[in-house]
Amino acid sequence: MRRLSVFFMAVLLVAGTARAQEAEPQVFGDLAEVMRGILFPNSNIIFDVQTINPDDPVEAVEGDSTTARFSTMYTGWEAVENAAVALIESANLIELPRLCENLEDDPARNGLPAPVERDDWKQYVAGLRAAGQTAYEWAQAREYDDFDAILMTGEVAEACSACHGVYRDTYNEPPTPRCTPPTE
Ligand code: HEC
Repeated sequence: MRRLSVFFMAVLLVAGTARAQEAEPQVFGDLAEVMRGILFPNSNIIFDVQTINPDDPVEAVEGDSTTARFSTMYTGWEAVENAAVALIESANLIELPRLCENLEDDPARNGLPAPVERDDWKQYVAGLRAAGQTAYEWAQAREYDDFDAILMTGEVAEACSACHGVYRDTYNEPPTPRCTPPTE
């Protein structure tokens, strides 16, 4: 009896592991929605350190909203650190196969897959991850220096624009469509 139950437990364990391995990440938003919902607000928190020293005291936001109520909860360096974590994790999100919004003039181009399999895309994603890590370390050091702040935010901005220059907008005339690999 005891032997049998050990056997069943082993079976359950194996079955459980197999199920865990099957679980695929579920994507929901198109690429533009992920950019607006996660990358945009969090990178703005990081860019703010060009004008706001995270050591400065934070004023509570007036009003009855939930945002106001919690406005002094994660502030200063911790807010920068949290935004950096969001950016580092967002690198994983933009590596997953998902569609682009592609609001180009040609409706046939709407909803192209994001070119996540391409080597250059992976390189830009790695750049974003590295910039997020620079921001994280900067925030963890808790030592404000204007020049360092500019270097750090510059690296984040550069990580965004390196990819945007190719896959979001190009400055060519006519502009090349979004999410479309450059023609060699
Ligand atoms: C690996 C490539 C890549 C990286 C890195 C990247 N983006 Fe994007 N981003 C895109 C593409 C492609 C689009 C167009 C998406 C679409 O049309 O669905 C876009 C669109 C956007 C949009 C516009 C969404 C709209 O309303 O049309 C914003 C805002 C944005 N990105 C912010 C950022 C910020 C901020 C960063 C850096 C922290 C960043 N992105 C990093 C590829 C990237």
